[in-house]
Amino acid sequence: MCGIIGFTGYLDVKNVLLEGLEALEYRGYDSAGIAFFEQDGIKTIKTTGKVTNLCDKVEGTSINSTCGIGHTRWAKHGGVSYTNSHPHTFGNVTLIHNGIIENYHELETALAHQGKYPVSQTDTEIAAMLIDSLYDGDAIETIKKAIKQLEGAYAFCILFADQPDVIYCLRNGSPLVACKSKEGSVIASDMVALIKYSKEYFVLPELHIAKLTKDNIVVSNLEGAIIKPQMLFVKWDMTAARKGGYAHFMLKEIHEQPSSLRSTIMPRIRNGSLPDLTADGIPNEIFHGINRVLITACGTAMHAGLVGRVLLEKLLRIPVTVEIASEFRYQDPIMDESTLVITISQSGETADTLAALRLSNEKHAKTLSIVNVKGSSIARESNYVLYTHAGPEIAVASTKAYTAQLSCIYLLALQFALAKNAITEPECASFVSQLQSVTTAVENTLSLEKAIDEISSHLKETEDLFFIGRGLDYALSCEGSIKLKEISYIHSEAYAAGELKHGTLSLITEGVPVIALATQTNVYSKMISNIREVRARGAMVILVTNGEIAVDSSIYDYHIALPELDDLFAPFTTAVVLQLLAYYTTIHRGYNVDQPRNLAKSVTVE
Ligand code: M6R
Repeated sequence: MCGIIGFTGYLDVKNVLLEGLEALEYRGYDSAGIAFFEQDGIKTIKTTGKVTNLCDKVEGTSINSTCGIGHTRWAKHGGVSYTNSHPHTFGNVTLIHNGIIENYHELETALAHQGKYPVSQTDTEIAAMLIDSLYDGDAIETIKKAIKQLEGAYAFCILFADQPDVIYCLRNGSPLVACKSKEGSVIASDMVALIKYSKEYFVLPELHIAKLTKDNIVVSNLEGAIIKPQMLFVKWDMTAARKGGYAHFMLKEIHEQPSSLRSTIMPRIRNGSLPDLTADGIPNEIFHGINRVLITACGTAMHAGLVGRVLLEKLLRIPVTVEIASEFRYQDPIMDESTLVITISQSGETADTLAALRLSNEKHAKTLSIVNVKGSSIARESNYVLYTHAGPEIAVASTKAYTAQLSCIYLLALQFALAKNAITEPECASFVSQLQSVTTAVENTLSLEKAIDEISSHLKETEDLFFIGRGLDYALSCEGSIKLKEISYIHSEAYAAGELKHGTLSLITEGVPVIALATQTNVYSKMISNIREVRARGAMVILVTNGEIAVDSSIYDYHIALPELDDLFAPFTTAVVLQLLAYYTTIHRGYNVDQPRNLAKSVTVE
């Protein structure tokens, strides 16, 4: 959601900013702009639409600068327009901003009393006006004063007209990461824009101010003390953030799953047979005294939680609930130190999930997060972190992060079950061996790609469809449905198959596609009855089974047989089929797979 890049150093800033914005495109945006120092002051170039539009605009100008800031805006306050796009300038101040200034209206009213009025409809311009009104030549003191008045989540990069080649940055809630290299100092809203310069970086701590000059980055806290931020290191490089020969990031990321699963699972297996999370700082002691698990997350990450619930309850026999983070945070939930709260997030910055985590911390629950982005807010604020080693996920539709989240939940559930003596070591070893075999099964599922492409072509003209399943297959139906609708723009719903008769069946008419997941033996015959119900009403059925099961061919139009796994592990292979189905349906419909309309990769505002 909105992208930030700032650079000061020894390179042509135009190239650094435009490349940085291109790398950040995946986050979702509808306008883009840059501002940079030139001999005669700060210049701004911005445009609505894509970064390529900005590149075209920049091409026609001669820029001679080595310091500037760039932004991709995802409209929140004020529509998509040239005036509302960032950077915003007021007086001495030019800035870019991610997040929302919640008290912008009060600030705007106060500024109006000083005879100052914005030209845009954005909260960002109000922040520029506020900072300019406080500016007395001392940037850091001015920013400190501004922080006292600003409410909401924000990340800012600020240029002061009388301080050439210096960038000031601060954040509260919204992420900012920075690095130093021999070429200069760089700051960005996420690592994909920094990786070109360094694999070593730091997360700007909240409510701290970073001053970037060509050769240095100085971070100070609000008391004025200079602090040394903790340096982090990413294992992946530029190639991981490129398409690498695939038509889209989503397809590349789908294909990366055998490897991301291996990287996530293998280092956590001791002697080839038992889970071991001690290297992650998760000792068995944390499970002692836990009598309830609460999982909270958003979107696909929450769907990973739905699988987690089935698994944890089965293995532990303690109650597990899954809560949508945006609901949970306002529900005054009941929890205490005997509750383990698991938050799941790819980005580690999702505002609602972060708020749910903070609430859980306040209520003294034990908090553990499953996160992909190292050093992200959710990771830092949780008592314990289990990182998914999925590498950067660029496509808005989450794929490899989801299956990596599942694998972490499985590892966690097994470790927890062992710690509670809910399973024996031999039982656990058998689960672990099945978990390890999931990577090969996922590889084999990918070989169904051509067949899934062909099946998807029959969904090209569809406007509504349904996913149905029971138990784990219901959790996967939810995931299949979100994947399909977010990128193909087909309206779809996930239904617990047993619920069909309680409403949805009225929507099943001739030709309506129903994707029926039937991978779970204990409810298999029930599922087949449900499929017959929709079939009798003319549904076009795409059936997914765990292994080559002989089914009456009159009940389906298309049958996808997954490589056979124990039922409990079928979510991994089912997920891959549903991802490919969403991908190819979108391709057949001709939409932008990686950057669906209105959506952002990382949702850092409520
Ligand atoms: O970064 P997070 O995992 O916290 O993101 C949560 C959701 O926004 C995300 O999973 C979203 O639903 C995906 N676009 C779905 O593919």
